[in-house]
Amino acid sequence: MPADQMPRIIAHRGASGNAPENTLAAIQMAADHGAKWIEIDVNISRDGVPVLFHDDGLNRCSNGSGLVIEHSVSTLQSLDAGSWFDKAFTGERIPTLEECLQLAIRLDLGVNLEIKPCSGWELPTTDAIADLLQQKTELPPIVVSSFSHVAMQQAAKRLPEIPRSCLYLVAPPDWQELTGEVGASNIHLHANSLLDNKKVDTYHAQGLGVFCYTVNTAKEAVKLFSIGVDGVFTNYPKDLLQASV
Ligand code: G3P
Ligand code: MG
Repeated sequence: MPADQMPRIIAHRGASGNAPENTLAAIQMAADHGAKWIEIDVNISRDGVPVLFHDDGLNRCSNGSGLVIEHSVSTLQSLDAGSWFDKAFTGERIPTLEECLQLAIRLDLGVNLEIKPCSGWELPTTDAIADLLQQKTELPPIVVSSFSHVAMQQAAKRLPEIPRSCLYLVAPPDWQELTGEVGASNIHLHANSLLDNKKVDTYHAQGLGVFCYTVNTAKEAVKLFSIGVDGVFTNYPKDLLQASV
């Protein structure tokens, strides 16, 4: 079960502290830095193609403008998604999910696929991702997550064989019902989410793995591991792996 295989250190948006987030360069760098799993954010283009991008809007992480959902995949892939980060990455493209999965297979990486729909697009986004995954004859190990419960319900329906993680800033009061309803294997929480060892024990007692984002120092990772957290998402996988946390 891939959820059990998720390691302690996961490269958040690829090695996004050292390369432009959610690009093939960041994924390649995560592998070069020794990461075994990556986390990526997946939205869809106007023509329904799953692409890697964190924000609804294009302006922060590309030279485009407007919303991801407003543009065709060919337009999205004509944008520069690298130079905003560093001139050395000029010309880096917004990858399709398919390109990402191919690279993950080649690099032997597991993938935490975060469904990141624009508001109101939860079902079409999850369906487009499910359609793609169902077409593929080979996939890397995948765990699907989302802040959107609608997306998680649809993932459970469309991709029952792919493990799921419920993703929250802070676990809501009805976390038990919500994680149970979608058959979640894990709960992914913000690193500052009022977590202590009793809460971690409670999640574990429900059979849930506990993972925290975004943890960029060894000190913080050590603290979270000391209360029983199973893994952390970091923009700097090299630093945390070198620190042997
Ligand atoms: O999946 C963990 C984390 O990526 C969730 O927050 O905003 O960085 O996608 P965000
Ligand atoms: Mg994410």
